[in-house]
Amino acid sequence: MADATERISQIGKEAADSIAAAPGTAELKELRVRYLGRKAELTAILRGIAELPPDQRGVVGKSGNEVRRRLESLLEERAAELESSELESSLAEGAVDVTLPGSPAHPVGHLHLITRTRRQIEDIMVGLGYTVLEGPEVELDYYNFTALNHPPGHPARMSQDTFYVAPGSLTKAALSAAREAADGAGEEVAATPDEELVVLRTHTSPMQVRAMEAQEPPIFVIVPGKVYRRDSDATHSPMFTQVEGLAVAEDITLADLQGTLLEMLRGIFGPGREARMRPHYFPFTEPSVEFDVSCFACDGAGTLPDGDRCGICKGVGWIEVGGAGMVDPNVFGFVSDKGYDPERVQGFAFGIGVERIAMLRYGVPDLRRFFDNDLRMLEQFT
Ligand code: PHE
Repeated sequence: MADATERISQIGKEAADSIAAAPGTAELKELRVRYLGRKAELTAILRGIAELPPDQRGVVGKSGNEVRRRLESLLEERAAELESSELESSLAEGAVDVTLPGSPAHPVGHLHLITRTRRQIEDIMVGLGYTVLEGPEVELDYYNFTALNHPPGHPARMSQDTFYVAPGSLTKAALSAAREAADGAGEEVAATPDEELVVLRTHTSPMQVRAMEAQEPPIFVIVPGKVYRRDSDATHSPMFTQVEGLAVAEDITLADLQGTLLEMLRGIFGPGREARMRPHYFPFTEPSVEFDVSCFACDGAGTLPDGDRCGICKGVGWIEVGGAGMVDPNVFGFVSDKGYDPERVQGFAFGIGVERIAMLRYGVPDLRRFFDNDLRMLEQFT
């Protein structure tokens, strides 16, 4: 008896050591066969119990079964351990390093010329203390026109004939926001036909009103973004990019506008440039101006050194780049509850076209080329 139980515990120890040391699941399977299989020594001992003297059967059977159970559970534990580490290493081996360049390596891209130009303007204006804001491209008629001092029926709406969005396509929330905005704006606005409630914004100027609704004066913001008009030729596209500027504080004058435009245009076109303003009309500024930069190609002379007429400014010496003016007191009237009292604060606003600036700077003859996505065109401007 002493022999049999001793042998059983020896087998148990030996088997436990081998199981702990098994390097893989395949080896573990072999160990199971060796120690618990049909031909295993322990199996033979347990099978032979009936032949033992009766007083030994219980002791041998008990220790044999105990060791068997212990080995079963050791095998299970080790199997689980090995399976998970084998899974891990097979995952690690098969892993693909997605940060490696492809083969052949794909050329690195670059920013679109419009994005670069927009960011350059943003940098200049941030340097002057302005904050960059963005706004919705699908805009309420109220912000695009009415609150900018062109109520329904105003002729200036026609000059920006645009894309209206069918009210049926709007969510209930957007429709009721539109109605609320229109109703809050006085009786004139009550006549707004439903189908004109929402437009693709024709300019970034609606953000003047939204920005003032969100922040009391003083305010210094620029708003880059896409705008939409029913226009299409070499210098107009149904979608283009503008940057709006708005400055409102105490004692802001037209001279501040002139200085700001000069600083901005020198940042864009070079330190030698000059800026000039010409009288113009916009419903939401008074007085209104268009502004020009002195031609960078002929240095404002209108003629090139060889005597030819300058092709960039068409011999004028100046290039028109945008519209601007002093914020009309009527516009402040729409945000008076935010502290925009025209007796206390004044402001200026301006708007420039980003494509036009990029065309001038980089000699691109047709604005539509920016949006054709022809890589031969885009790759010239790295
Ligand atoms: N929003 C005007 C346009 O698109 C430009 C402008 C902006 C004019 C700000 C005056 C003030 O033509």
